[in-house]
Amino acid sequence: MRTVTRRRFLAGAGAVVLGAGLAGSRRVAAASPLPPPPEPGMGRTVPLRLVAAERPQALPCFGGHVLPMWTLSDTTWLPVVRVQIGDRLEALFENRLPREGEHSSIHWHGIRLPVDQDGVPYLTQPPVEPGGSFRYAFTPPDTGTFFFHTHCNTPEQLGRGLMGVLIVEGDTTEPYDADEVVMLRDWRIDLDKGAFTSFTTTRGASRAGTFGNVRSANGAPEADLRLPAGGDCRLRLINADPTRIMEIAVDGAEAAVIAIDGIAVPPFPLDGWALAPAMRVDLVVRAPGAGGSAHLVDRRAEPPLPLARLVGSGSSRPPRAFDPRPLRAGRIPEPDLAAAATLDFAFTAGGGAAPIPPGDGSDSLFLGSICVSSDDFWSINGAAWPGKDHSRIPPPLAVLERGRSYRLRMKNASRIAHPIHIHGHSFKVLASDRQSLPLHHADTVLLLPDETVEAAFVADNPGDWMFHCHVIEHQETGMMAYLRVL
Ligand code: C2O
Ligand code: CU
Repeated sequence: MRTVTRRRFLAGAGAVVLGAGLAGSRRVAAASPLPPPPEPGMGRTVPLRLVAAERPQALPCFGGHVLPMWTLSDTTWLPVVRVQIGDRLEALFENRLPREGEHSSIHWHGIRLPVDQDGVPYLTQPPVEPGGSFRYAFTPPDTGTFFFHTHCNTPEQLGRGLMGVLIVEGDTTEPYDADEVVMLRDWRIDLDKGAFTSFTTTRGASRAGTFGNVRSANGAPEADLRLPAGGDCRLRLINADPTRIMEIAVDGAEAAVIAIDGIAVPPFPLDGWALAPAMRVDLVVRAPGAGGSAHLVDRRAEPPLPLARLVGSGSSRPPRAFDPRPLRAGRIPEPDLAAAATLDFAFTAGGGAAPIPPGDGSDSLFLGSICVSSDDFWSINGAAWPGKDHSRIPPPLAVLERGRSYRLRMKNASRIAHPIHIHGHSFKVLASDRQSLPLHHADTVLLLPDETVEAAFVADNPGDWMFHCHVIEHQETGMMAYLRVL
């Protein structure tokens, strides 16, 4: 059951939480070693075509309205791409968005790929203008649950639906009884007019973000998942919302966490897991018996909001203890903590960049610029991403030596939570001064108000790597920078 402690904790009301509620539940029971990582085979080449275009449609969560969605495929609003570890993905991206100047790209969130495939306009590739295209080709080095999205004007491009799921298989020793994706996100819709409403607001951007008013799981108000009765089923949860932090729990069935941001952890019981924007969590759920049902819920809502109905179907497997099989270990290089250099990053409200005065001729630039808003509400180490355009690339926040280990002390010096994301690498999350966290890897680390999280990684991937808050409006109003690995 929910406790006051947990709710206070999640509300960030300044309560110090010592092993209670959510914090307690995030501890690993007993860290048994994981089976060894898979050996990638020769692999196939997997072709993929992603065409960004407006495709009006009515998702079940749209209340009967057809909305001018922007999506990547003619056949589904949510492409789910499954490859095997060792496979090479060759994705042709075409921009057919119906607005002049609406450039785009694909960022493969969480994939440790070569920097020229990372999909950040201006920083790692030229923006893809309407009518243009770009070919991505890479071999994902890690198994797990990932997703992809565009990286400019993201409140609108993501807000209208431009995204997809990338699953890299090969992390199981024996398959689970089911393997399902649960894509969680909100939409901003005027339900009288049947139109999208403004994707960003000044008020939201300067606070916790602009929340959607229509929530969804797999495009429905509540996803309906038929699972083999009594089976141990893998659910891959992705929070693709630009703003909302959820607290994931399962009511009515046993559940364990088996991977965080795609990378295996020794299974531990799920009792409330904070899933912030861009985070993924893989669960194993013991499906209800035939005809029975359980619910995946967001406990941060009051009362808890059902996200998915899990229905047992077929003949029930015999009763047995819930002891979910672990996934194979990840392949993230182990940081050398003894030799690591420490970097301090403070995430704060208020921008450090000088505002660009009006009437200096840059108004046309502003109109043509879709990457960054002109407001600086947020900053990292006192510096906000220079206003108005990705094309004005600031100097790197830090220059890292290739192959060296770094320990990052990331301090949230604001009253609002920030999920901090790094491109091209995965952090080993070591410690928090506010929560008891399991040792795990993550590409997106949630910083609660006033929390400091320590994480380490080996800077083994050369290039310029974005490092930003994944509350998209925070990212686009200053809380964005990049690390250069030389
Ligand atoms: Cu999921 Cu820089 O982003
Ligand atoms: Cu933020």
